[in-house]
Amino acid sequence: MTADTEAEVSEAQIAVHWKEEPLIEPPRSFVKQANVSDPSVFERFSEKNFPQCFEEYADLLSWDSRWHTVLDTGRPPFWKWFVGGKLNASYNAVDRHLPKHRNKAALIWVPESEDEAAQAVTYQELYNRVNEFALVLKEFAGLNAGDRVTFHLPMVPELPISMLAAARLGIIHNQVFGGFSARACAERMEDSKSTVLVTIDGYYRNGGLIDKKKEADVTVEEAEKLGIEVEKVLVWRRHPGKYISRSPMVEGRDFFVDEVARPFRGRTIAPTSMDAEAPLFLMYTSGSTGKPKGIQHRTGGYLAYVAGTTKFVQDLRPEDVYWCFADIGWITGHSYIVYGPLTNAATSVMYEGVPLYPDPGRPWRIAERLGVNIFHTAPTTIRMLRKAGPDEPSKYHYRFKAMTTVGEPIEPEAWRWYYEVVGKKEAVITDTWWQTETGGFLCSTMPALAPMKPGSAGPGMPGIYPVIYDENGAEVPPGQNRAGNICIRNPWPGIMQTIWGDPDRFVSVYYSKYNRDGQSKDWHDWPYFAGDGAVQAADGYFRIVGRVDDVIKVAGHRLGTKEIENAVLTTPEVAEAAAIAMEDELRGHVPVVYVALKPGSALMKGLEDVIKGNVVRELGPIARPRFVYVVPDLPKTRSGKIMRRVLASISDRKDYGDVTTLANPDVVETIRKQVQAT
Ligand code: WTA
Repeated sequence: MTADTEAEVSEAQIAVHWKEEPLIEPPRSFVKQANVSDPSVFERFSEKNFPQCFEEYADLLSWDSRWHTVLDTGRPPFWKWFVGGKLNASYNAVDRHLPKHRNKAALIWVPESEDEAAQAVTYQELYNRVNEFALVLKEFAGLNAGDRVTFHLPMVPELPISMLAAARLGIIHNQVFGGFSARACAERMEDSKSTVLVTIDGYYRNGGLIDKKKEADVTVEEAEKLGIEVEKVLVWRRHPGKYISRSPMVEGRDFFVDEVARPFRGRTIAPTSMDAEAPLFLMYTSGSTGKPKGIQHRTGGYLAYVAGTTKFVQDLRPEDVYWCFADIGWITGHSYIVYGPLTNAATSVMYEGVPLYPDPGRPWRIAERLGVNIFHTAPTTIRMLRKAGPDEPSKYHYRFKAMTTVGEPIEPEAWRWYYEVVGKKEAVITDTWWQTETGGFLCSTMPALAPMKPGSAGPGMPGIYPVIYDENGAEVPPGQNRAGNICIRNPWPGIMQTIWGDPDRFVSVYYSKYNRDGQSKDWHDWPYFAGDGAVQAADGYFRIVGRVDDVIKVAGHRLGTKEIENAVLTTPEVAEAAAIAMEDELRGHVPVVYVALKPGSALMKGLEDVIKGNVVRELGPIARPRFVYVVPDLPKTRSGKIMRRVLASISDRKDYGDVTTLANPDVVETIRKQVQAT
């Protein structure tokens, strides 16, 4: 193997060994009441019934007109779902529940401060507020179906209200995670050509007030630099009638939503009947390049998929109180805080703050007080709560019937605490593997029909046929203890439509690698490449080992190492940068940056902090590097490729392997000594 091909060896090809975990049967009390307890589901969704099987999901929705074709494969891999069908997402999440559930809480919002009471938003009130804001978007902001609107909102009820208002009129919403910087928000506005920004004056996090409106001012400035003029900034207020930001409102540009909504109070606007294929929203996510991808989701297929998977896996029913402790700024929140639960007429709990505020008992107090019976969160939150308050859950009298984990691999140790202590051995756990691009769950056990295995996501969901391929496209059969690239052989309704404005990148990132024939209109020739390494056990369960590309997961947040490197390179002294993911007990991974300086740049005091600050400015606090190392040179192959894997091994205090074929092997030991001395 030459040094260059060695650099191409993906994580997934490296053999992995781990102790096979014992299977755990779902609690009997859960099985007895489950939505899906009939194993015929596997038969119904088997390949011989594909793609018609997905009509079962679409039939959970209310359609204005029915589709004539379930799946159109005419232009691979741009699949079309439920073609000819028409529906409205906001109608499905809100209006249709009014006759039966008018007075039931659709959302329960828990402010971070325990001195502030939780707020229930009934379906009727949600309907009122969605209508009023839809009128603001249309009549005040001049937006119409197909236009894009950007939200930079934290976890407040105004976020789902804004999403549903946009969806009511076919306006494509583009929510930017609140932890992303103004600059990152501006980039997403530029890419989506969005000129209206919806934000809030401020919100609370970890006991402090975050001034969001001040950030919006920077977003407008940054957008201007990128050539896009933000025409209107619509500002919700965290406390009615009070303004908690220090930033002055700019005349003619900034408007308080409560003021501009006044003329629309009590008025309604009919939901626009949208094509099943009309885009519903964009969600930008990180990939292998420095430029985030605008993942575009369709209305009909997406909504059908999240409604169906919520019912099957979260086991949601209208009488449940469901809390997905994630951020709506990520896909988990879109699918499993907003669209999935609300189309199922459930009560969805939202929490403004952080897990440990003011103490590690907080989430369990929320669960107890609100009667939450389904809980959903990420391994990073589980690890954090376990470390800070391992015995806290037993002090509270909540009862969960089902729990979910999502976003990164969970260690069996953390899984067991989740099961035994959080779930009190009464709740079934689903470990759901999926992605921004996939709209909803891809692998998970069906909770009443299959045993759980700590650390493994489980088999493919009904109607999802996963496979592991090696680098050459040969199938890696189950039970070989060998990792490869997990792919999905078939299309499904929740899959993205394309990357906004970049269909070529859509094809090349997700389909080129394993496409068998570019001309083929047969879906069998177009496996979806997920970008994750996985191992399949003999029993068919998949264990996800992590990304095979330049994407890292930090506390469950998806970031691109190239984006971090670009941010580091805004520091004038830096010649070259490599960002890697270092293992971390609580956050899964944290970013670490190695830099080489330009010739003649002396190492100035505090440069590391300047670099960290630049990353926070460009991307946001979630991307802040844990360490920055200024090194003499970065280890490279003879063709100049930076060996990030070697650097990651050094940071993880692991053996970095044979580096003799590198162009500069000596620097590796110098770096190791430097890093390990700190
Ligand atoms: C990782 C989050 C292991 C995976 C829904 C994937 C997981 C990336 C799991 C997508 C899981 C997600 N077990 N790894 N249950 N779920 N991942 O787009 O690497 O923010 O590719 O979507 O998270 O992250 P994204």
